[in-house]
Formats: sequence, structure tokens, C-alpha cells
Amino acid sequence: MVKENFFYSRLLDAPLALTFYDLILQPGYTEVEPREVSLRTKVTINFEINLPFVSSPMDTVTGADMAIALARLGGVGILHRNCSLEEQVAMARRVKRAESFIIRDVVTISPDMKVADAIEIMSEHDIHGLPVVDSANYLLGIVTWRDVRYSDPDNLVRDVMTGKDKLIYSDESITLEEAKRLMNKYRIEKLPIVDKEGKLLGLITFKDLELRGKFPNASRDPDGRLLVGAAVSPYDLNRAVALDRYVDILVVDVAHFHNKNVLNATRKLVRSVSADVVVGNVGTKEAVFDAINIVEEVAGFRVGIGSGSICKTGVVTRVAAPTLFAVANVADALIELGEHGNIPIIADGGIKNSGDIALALAAGASAVMMGNLFAGTRESPGRLMALEGKYYKEYYGMGSNKARMRRMSLDRYSIPSKDVEEGVEGWVPYRGTVKDVVSELKAGLEAAMGYVGAASIKDLWSKAKFARVSPAGMGEIKPHNIFMIKG
Ligand code: IMP
Repeated sequence: MVKENFFYSRLLDAPLALTFYDLILQPGYTEVEPREVSLRTKVTINFEINLPFVSSPMDTVTGADMAIALARLGGVGILHRNCSLEEQVAMARRVKRAESFIIRDVVTISPDMKVADAIEIMSEHDIHGLPVVDSANYLLGIVTWRDVRYSDPDNLVRDVMTGKDKLIYSDESITLEEAKRLMNKYRIEKLPIVDKEGKLLGLITFKDLELRGKFPNASRDPDGRLLVGAAVSPYDLNRAVALDRYVDILVVDVAHFHNKNVLNATRKLVRSVSADVVVGNVGTKEAVFDAINIVEEVAGFRVGIGSGSICKTGVVTRVAAPTLFAVANVADALIELGEHGNIPIIADGGIKNSGDIALALAAGASAVMMGNLFAGTRESPGRLMALEGKYYKEYYGMGSNKARMRRMSLDRYSIPSKDVEEGVEGWVPYRGTVKDVVSELKAGLEAAMGYVGAASIKDLWSKAKFARVSPAGMGEIKPHNIFMIKG
């Protein structure tokens, strides 16, 4: 028998989906100055980073330049997948080669190749030195830009290289300090690393040693290379396995993760790769329980549905889990499972400023993912446009017609509603470099944590006290009654 007022009571009993605009954080007793705040956080089960910022896997947000810039500052970029497998792998390799202590993925040359080939390989990879190896990978020498620059292009590499007898090389046990000392002493830019038999294992470059000092907060893998993630479809096992060689994090990138086929496909994917697999997007407790039951090894949740600045899902379908509401629910589900703080939440969509970041973290997230704010930077792949003396960068949703026209994005937003556009296309103001944007967001977040009295993100979870604001109140806590010249 149907309950009386079954439908009407459903309306009355509906929970309130609070969003960024509804809430503020209350000031609390503090012993923490903003500059003392630690923003170190877990971004996946196995990776900690110094800055809780992640860039969205969108083709107007994260390519290799964004991922490199953000990782150097302490965050992490998730490479978009709106391209061929080869292009995505090439982006991942570029990030991994940007800096490292020992480069493992070394570009080498054979002694029988010509100087012209060496020049071509150097230009193609933008490098100035190539270890020379035989077919069994034994190190025979090194050829540098200086050796080939004025040489006859038809000469053989073996005739212009520095041979092994005069070469400075080392084994794998060398420390950073020893490598620096050795390279300074012999004034060399490259130090090949070999195993006991003399086979090439890797290469240390002076440039990398210098960069390491320049970016002390950078997010790095155990080999000292920049940390990077990549988005994949749960159904594209081939791509996940290919990327797994290079990336640390794979993000299963679907608009609605709580779907039987997606869950089952992800279960298989997780078992085929060694990277940490973040799943999403989710917005409910049930999605968390099912994900953990079915997928089992979930390294993080990407949380929020419908809040993205380019998102039309909420308009087209009236289905949404606004980011703050979603984060708090997912955090509670993880608390029930005893996993909150262990399996991180990445709050995704709708972040407009540092205040929103503070709210998302306070609601239980470990990191935030941003598309709009990063799309406006120099390092994003989107086009730059000047309009009436101001600069803008292109930004569009991955479910917009523009993105969907590229075949690769189709599966994210077209199953099951194949013919519906769920994203919009537009332009965002140019905001300078990633460094500029990150500095501003970081300073705002540290100030917020100072007001709350939280020395760390964990501390924020327990100390944050929210208050609901009336629309009038929200108007009042913004600049008002002033004619603004800028901003
Ligand atoms: P933003 O930072 O508010 O612009 O939100 C970015 C987030 O929006 C991304 O990380 C995705 O989760 C989401 N998103 C990207 N493209 C679309 C789309 O076309 N429709 C809906 N959501 C999208």
C-alpha cells in the first residue's frame, strides 16, 4: 500500500543542498599566523603534496605546461584525455622529463648513427646531450651539442663523441650532493649512471640539480620527477596501461561514477595498473559505499556534480550534487568506513576564489580541483584573445559541443544521454601565470585558516565552524557602496 502523501512528503523531507554561496566560516580563537599554516595534504592514498590544488583534466586547462608549473609549486595537474593516446602519453613524458634526479627514460643514440641524426634527435627532444650505447645498452660514450654543432653532418657519432675512457659516470648509489660536487669538479652537464656491468641505467643533468633547489615545494615521485596524473575513460584499458608507465595518478574521468558498468570497468582497470586510481565524479554516500565495495582499491574520490562553472548538467537534467554538499556527504561516508583522511576527497567544481577553497577543505576535502581559475593562466592550453584592451582565454566544458566534437571526450558526457550538451563554451579573464594565481589563492587560504585557528587541513576539519548566511548577509560581506576602479 502506498504511504499517504508519499510524493508530497518527499518534497517536504528533501535535504538542503548547501553550496558555497550559503555558508561562511566563523572566526575562532587562534594561535596560528597565516604564514605558519601547513597546507600539506594527501592527494591520493600514496601521495602527499605541499599545496592542496589540482587542475582539471580539460583540454583548455591541463596540458604538460600546466602540469609542470603546478607540480613545481606543490600541487598536481591531471592531463586531459581529449586527444589521442599517443598525444596524452607524450604530455605525460614531457612532465616526467621536465626535471628529475636520475632520468630513467633516457634518450640515447647508437655510435653508428650520423651527426645529422644526433642533431635531429636533440632538437626533437629539446636536449643537449645523448649517451651513446650499443645494441645491448652498454654505455660507450656521450655526445653533446658542443660535439655536433660544428661537425660535418655526415660524420659518425663514434668519431665525435667523448668515449668511455674519458667519460665521468657513476653508479646508482650516488647522492644529490655527490653528483653536484662531481659535476662541478669536472665541469660537466651530464652524468650517466650505469650498473655493475656498465649498462646505462639513467642520466643526471646539471639543469635538474639546479631546478631542484629552485622549487623546494614541488610535488615529486620517489625518483625526484614531477608528480603528474592523467584522466582516462574506465573503458579504455589500453590507454590506462600505456599511461601507467609514466603517471603516478590515474583519474577515472566520468560525469557520473555511480553506474554499474563504470564501477565494474573500473574494478578491472584498477587491477591492471600500478598508479593510484582516483574515481569520480561522485556526490553521495551510496556512491562511496558502492565504489569501495566493488572497485575495492580506491585511491581517492573526485567529488561534486553539476557545480562546474561551464556545467549545464544541472540545467539540462536538474540532477546535481553541488560541491560542498557532495563533499560533506562523501566525507561522512568515509568517516562511517573509518577511511576519512586516509582516502582523500578532491572537491571539484565551482571554486571561484580562496574563500571557496577554505570552505571545501573545511567540509572534509583534502584538496580542490579547479578548472576555471587555471584556464585563465598563461600555461593553460586554451587560446588567448584580446577584446577591447583586455585579454581572455578560451574555456569550455568537456561536455560542450566543442569538446564533444573531438571524439575522445564522447564517453564522459554522452552515455546515456548521447544527444545532450552538458557544458558551455566561453572565455575567462587572463590571470597571468599559474604562479600568480597560486600565490593569491594560497595567501587567501592561509589567511582563512589563520582566522579559524587551524594550523593544518586536518586541524581545519575539526575546528571549522560554519554559519549559514542570508542572501542579504552574503551581499554585505562583499565590497559594497563603493565605485570600484579595479577588480
Ligand atoms: P570549474 O573550476 O568551476 O570550472 O569546474 C571544473 C570542473 O567542471 C571539472 O573539473 C569537471 O568536473 C567539471 N566539468 C568539466 N566539463 C564539464 C561539462 O561539460 N559539464 C559539466 N561539468 C564539467
